[in-house]
Amino acid sequence: MFFQIPSFHLLKAKRIAVYSQQTETALKKKINVAIDGHSSCGKSTLAKALAKEFNYIYIDTGAMYRAMTLYALQNKLVDSEGAKEEKLVELLDKVYIAFKYNPKTLKVETYLNGANVEKEIRSMQVSKYVSPISTLKAVRQKLVRLQQRMAESNGVVMDGRDIGTVVLPGAELKFFMTAEAHIRAERRFKELKDRGIDIAFQEVLENVNSRDKIDSTREHDPLKQAEGAIVIDNSNLTLDEQFQFMLGHVKRVLENIPVV
Ligand code: DC
Repeated sequence: MFFQIPSFHLLKAKRIAVYSQQTETALKKKINVAIDGHSSCGKSTLAKALAKEFNYIYIDTGAMYRAMTLYALQNKLVDSEGAKEEKLVELLDKVYIAFKYNPKTLKVETYLNGANVEKEIRSMQVSKYVSPISTLKAVRQKLVRLQQRMAESNGVVMDGRDIGTVVLPGAELKFFMTAEAHIRAERRFKELKDRGIDIAFQEVLENVNSRDKIDSTREHDPLKQAEGAIVIDNSNLTLDEQFQFMLGHVKRVLENIPVV
């Protein structure tokens, strides 16, 4: 005899199915996602969105190099002649960089020796000197160690230049993002204008080009595509297209991770 299940029971069965799917996901090991790529290609926007989607922690390693650069500028340890490496290395133990959530801005903000420097580290002055500071071996060693500790418990989306190659070579998923330099400079120019910063487009383009060059050719941990990284050239992609593409990859990797 045909037995019809009342809709209430169907609903309940559906709820149980969704619940067990969620429990299964929760029981799965969290993964680490590494996102590397050129300056100003939108890595942080996508990394933040992915982290939010999976309730993971987002770590902006560029902000850490920027905070270190601000420290060097504050202490007159870098100028157009270059960095005073020996002195900066001597002072490295006195540099504390941390991230804290600000419930007012709903954002995670960067702290340097206890002071909120989120705004200052995004200035053109810091952008100008951050690449030379990032070339210093001792600076990299200190920040890489800190980043590795932050990712120890997994569930992290980290963006930078050497994440898939040096910081988290064992990350379950790696992306390498790029876009044409001119397009990246246009995006950055618009962002700076929107923040009320008066700057010539040519200066932004030069900064993008010079950072690309220093980041990719430096001796220690240069920017390069990690083995197995998925390349995204977003010159002609919308944010949503990029997000959906990355989301698909995270889901694919999570589906193949065994339940613990
Ligand atoms: O992501 P960003 O543009 O805020 O990074 C600023 C600079 O920091 C970038 O030009 C190079 C450096 N950097 C690095 O050397 N290694 C990282 N993992 C992240 C950033």
